[in-house]
Amino acid sequence: MENLEEKIIQADSLEALERVRVELFGKKGILAAQFAKMKDVPGPEKKAFAEGLNKQKAALQQAFEARYETLKAEEIEALLKSEAIDVSLYGQVAQKGALHPVMETMDKIIDYFVALNFSVEDGPMVEDDFHNFEALNLPKYHPARDMQDTFYFRDGGLLRTHTSPVQIRTMLKEKPPIRMIAPGSVFRRDYDLTHTPMFHQVEGLVVDEKGKVSFANLKSILVDFLHYMFGDVEVRFRPSFFPFTEPSAEVDISCIFCEGEGCRVCSHTGWLEVLGCGIVDPNVFKAVGYEDVSGYAFGLGVERFAMLMHKIPDLRSLFEGDIRLLEQFR
Ligand code: PHE
Repeated sequence: MENLEEKIIQADSLEALERVRVELFGKKGILAAQFAKMKDVPGPEKKAFAEGLNKQKAALQQAFEARYETLKAEEIEALLKSEAIDVSLYGQVAQKGALHPVMETMDKIIDYFVALNFSVEDGPMVEDDFHNFEALNLPKYHPARDMQDTFYFRDGGLLRTHTSPVQIRTMLKEKPPIRMIAPGSVFRRDYDLTHTPMFHQVEGLVVDEKGKVSFANLKSILVDFLHYMFGDVEVRFRPSFFPFTEPSAEVDISCIFCEGEGCRVCSHTGWLEVLGCGIVDPNVFKAVGYEDVSGYAFGLGVERFAMLMHKIPDLRSLFEGDIRLLEQFR
């Protein structure tokens, strides 16, 4: 019976030990078979036989338990080793994101006007003809509508071509005085080096009692704003036309690439156009039911500002989502 204990000792895994357990202690196992022999043992010897078997069984059980403890401890040890984590190793460093240059520029613009107590207004991107054109003194069939190639929906709705409809919406819902800006995306059928079908504008509008708002006010705020954005540049106002303002002007800054010398970016003029503005046309006030007021308005393209501030040559690259470009603005 020596070799029975040997079986236990030689079991080299918990599975193997389990098989030995069944073989020895199971209902049809070796020990059960030994006990079954009891009935053939003559009466007087039964006691000694039983005692011998019980002792042997107890010894085997002890050996079994000892082996079980050893194997179990080895298993835990192996598990701990295989699942060990070296906490001193470097992990994956998370990439830090950053604001898109267009949004960063937009925020900078908004900050300027918020500091001057302008409210920030919002409006829908899907507009109707009234808010985007009619109320802005752009009647149907007016040739100036060609200035803005429009995306139309079949039901007559359209994607707003500028943020000016937000002026109209704000004036319809509030009484003067008004000092507001409207930042947002706008849409035009255009696509080349300096145009994308979607871009961002910031619109500004100031309305107060008649005689309180002048072109001089408009000029002083825009000159200060452009210095805030571009630093020490020269600013000039050029007469221009917008249906919703009269008089109207376009605003140029001295070229920040060649400092006015003339280069490719400024088409050798020394100037870069950055803003449209003017005194609000009386027809616009009529459309929203305002009387005895005066006001000025201005509008600018955020992408253009971002391009100039960061010297980005192709507007489209701002929308390609190329990480190599965006990483430069972290
Ligand atoms: N809405 C004009 C445009 O998109 C910009 C503008 C706004 C001009 C307000 C004058 C006054 O071109």
